[in-house]
Amino acid sequence: MHRQRKSTLNAYTSTVATSAEGAQAFPIPDNVFAETVTEVRHYTDRLFRFRTTRPASFRFRSGEFVMIGLPNAERPVFRAYSVASPAWDDELEFFSIKVPGGPLTEYLQKVKIGDTILMRKKPTGTLVIDALLPGKRLYLLSTGTGVAPFASLIRDPDVYEKFDEVILVQTCREVAELAYARELYDEVANHEFLGELAAGKLRLYDSATREPYPRQGRITDLIDSGKLFSDLGVPPFDPATDRAMICGSMAMIKDTKDRLEHFGLVEGANNAPNTFVVERAFVG
Ligand code: A2P
Repeated sequence: MHRQRKSTLNAYTSTVATSAEGAQAFPIPDNVFAETVTEVRHYTDRLFRFRTTRPASFRFRSGEFVMIGLPNAERPVFRAYSVASPAWDDELEFFSIKVPGGPLTEYLQKVKIGDTILMRKKPTGTLVIDALLPGKRLYLLSTGTGVAPFASLIRDPDVYEKFDEVILVQTCREVAELAYARELYDEVANHEFLGELAAGKLRLYDSATREPYPRQGRITDLIDSGKLFSDLGVPPFDPATDRAMICGSMAMIKDTKDRLEHFGLVEGANNAPNTFVVERAFVG
């Protein structure tokens, strides 16, 4: 599982970076990593993913986020991004929305292989296994780019050691936006080592809200109608066995949290583990 680190490609020693636009370059600010983009993939006109080199000294827990920026200004804009890759990966992966006129994503969506990405050094976040009490079934409830921290977690062998069942729930407006989670699921299922660990444990439940799809509707409505549970063939949320993580917009978090609390689940944190945790999917 723990692959050998590739020889370092990152621009540690350089003081000037290639910006996303290519034309202008600014000195790298102090105290950030400068990493090189290794892959970019656009799923739709709203969502894309990119991969970068990983600093040898960068350690994080699956599910955490870091602050990302571009060397395109004297004082670059930084935004929080969940690391979508697992802790054992020798590269870093991020999943991003493209916000027209967004102070970072307007430029970030134009990055190409070889461009430089800035990354603050300290990862943090609450969507970590340590913030949950032990349980049997783990629900990972996401909308849009909120699936990113779960992309990390479902590729972490620890998750399959700690839970009997891991249910990744992803809702998007359009069907094409669901491709990232589908690919992830297939990647895990077909992975040399993870495939075996995840077999019979990992399940994907995806739905679209603005286009026809076999599973239709918001996660909140699917919980209220009981369709989520009947489709999965499981009993409703039970604090004795079920654990959950929520990641999406502010409104989605609030509404989903209300449902979990209705069933008796209690929000936890790193220093006070409990039966569910939440984090906002950051945009801009
Ligand atoms: P809808 O299409 O009904 O707005 P967005 O891209 O705006 O973040 O939305 C991603 C997905 O989250 C969409 O499918 C959207 O459904 C859904 N969504 C938006 N708000 C909520 C909410 N308060 N509760 C549950 N799902 C939501």
